[in-house]
Amino acid sequence: MRVIIIIGICLVMATQVNSFVGITWGRQQTQQLVPSMVVDLLLQNKISQLRLMTSGYDIIEIFSGTNISVSVLMGNSFMYQANRKDLAYNWVNDRIKDPINKGANIVELTVGSEPFSNTFLKQVTNYNVVPVLKLMRESLDEMGLGHVRTTTAHGMDVLNHTKVPSESDFRDDIKPQMIESLAEFNRTGAPFVLVMFPIHFVKDVMNYPIEFAFFDNNSGFKIKDGNITYTNAVELMIDSVAWAIKKAGYENMKIMIAQIGWPTDGYPHANVKNAERFHKGLLKFITSKKGTPMKPGPIDIYLHSLCDENQFNKIFGLFQRHWGIYQADGNPKYKIDLSLQGRDVLPTQAKGIVKMPNRWCKFNGDTTNMDLVNKNYDLACQVSDCSQLEKGASCDGLSYASKVSYAMNAFFQKNKQEVKDCDFDGLGQIVATNPSEPNCEFPIEILSFQDQRVQNGMVLRV
Ligand SMILES: *[C@@H]1O[C@H](CO)[C@@H](O)[C@H](O)[C@H]1NC(C)=O
Ligand SMILES: *[C@@H]1O[C@H](CO)[C@@H](O)[C@H](O)[C@H]1NC(C)=O
Ligand SMILES: *[C@@H]1O[C@H](CO)[C@@H](O)[C@H](O)[C@H]1NC(C)=O
Ligand SMILES: *[C@@H]1O[C@H](CO)[C@@H](O)[C@H](O)[C@H]1NC(C)=O
Ligand SMILES: *[C@@H]1O[C@H](CO)[C@@H](O)[C@H](O)[C@H]1NC(C)=O
Repeated sequence: MRVIIIIGICLVMATQVNSFVGITWGRQQTQQLVPSMVVDLLLQNKISQLRLMTSGYDIIEIFSGTNISVSVLMGNSFMYQANRKDLAYNWVNDRIKDPINKGANIVELTVGSEPFSNTFLKQVTNYNVVPVLKLMRESLDEMGLGHVRTTTAHGMDVLNHTKVPSESDFRDDIKPQMIESLAEFNRTGAPFVLVMFPIHFVKDVMNYPIEFAFFDNNSGFKIKDGNITYTNAVELMIDSVAWAIKKAGYENMKIMIAQIGWPTDGYPHANVKNAERFHKGLLKFITSKKGTPMKPGPIDIYLHSLCDENQFNKIFGLFQRHWGIYQADGNPKYKIDLSLQGRDVLPTQAKGIVKMPNRWCKFNGDTTNMDLVNKNYDLACQVSDCSQLEKGASCDGLSYASKVSYAMNAFFQKNKQEVKDCDFDGLGQIVATNPSEPNCEFPIEILSFQDQRVQNGMVLRV
């Protein structure tokens, strides 16, 4: 009896110690935060788990000696770099072993980001992920890095969506790959890694009221599944996946949330107010450690994401540029208590940010040659981030002339405020008064990471 109690206590303690709230960090910005600032931001906010959406070793090494657990991603499009044993071995040696030798605490390698996607990431679908995953595992084991887990990230689109979780199953077209992956995860003790975008699931997949995406279930909307009632989408999403995994024979496999968040622009209902409300409910749910009906107990999550990525490829969805809890310049967008005490506080601001001067570029209003105006508008948006101007986005309500100004400014800032980059065939003018309008900020960027590193005499690869 006593033995059972002690084992019970140990299990509870082990699971609680293992549960965490981490954050993701991607680097597809025109002007990137200095990595040491990011380390500082994480430490200030007491975030000890980072999911790095890149595998640049110079970036990974920044976390040496910080105690921050780092999960490294090998994106779908890089799979060819490790699809043979020798290549896989070299990749692991350069990107995992070497940084570990230099003191980085790498705990996980994610091979493939939603490689079976048939929605937002379908352009980079890669069914060869399982062989690569196995090669990476082999290489890690041979190098004595058995403690670095190997996983793959999956979106909700691996499921054939059904009304209730208990009817869920994996899509027919990927079932063989899913079964093979699950066997590999189970063999190596890796969790099933899930990427979640609740707005999309609720509105566009299930066509439910958006209220169902929030934890405070104000609307009273519910989904009944047998004797279980779901009052929010997140629990329903997790349990849908849990059912599919259970049907494949791995009832006890852990589910880890590798990305969950609420973008603030570029998608219906994506705004700061909703993002704040969603996270408040989410963190309360996570810290309660109660879990879901199918997966009771603590859940590991990574909030997505630390800061906006204004260079994220538009074909994957404009909202992908607006996942940040922070703007690209390190200013927090909304209140979120990353220390998990449920307080209404802004997260710590990034220290030591050096911003460009208060100068903007705007359209001088000369509409005598509209072809020329349109040409310059298109040119500016081809190179810089105009996602805020798209239909339904925060700056969609601007007049046409203001939209042209927005685009010109984005281009000018991206090019570090070079005077020639506000020329636009004579249609641009540099101004010192902020042309921002309500709900639509004309940003000034920060001095870039690369510049500062080059000044220090180092050349970095990202
Ligand atoms: C690093 O993590 C270990 C284990 O979690 C902990 O014991 C130690 O105090 C941490 N060190 C610092 C400097 O935070
Ligand atoms: C989804 O499930 C239905 C019913 O089992 C099946 O007919 C259909 O082919 C499935 N679709 C996919 C994409 O797996
Ligand atoms: C999963 O792994 C566990 C532990 O190694 C093992 O006991 C179990 O049989 C595996 N499940 C399947 C379906 O292979
Ligand atoms: C919200 O969910 C809780 C727990 O399921 C339930 O007790 C409560 O009645 C729900 N509130 C509303 C307004 O539906
Ligand atoms: C809920 O339903 C399941 C399956 O039908 C059953 O095994 C379980 O005992 C039920 N739980 C409760 C609390 O009624």
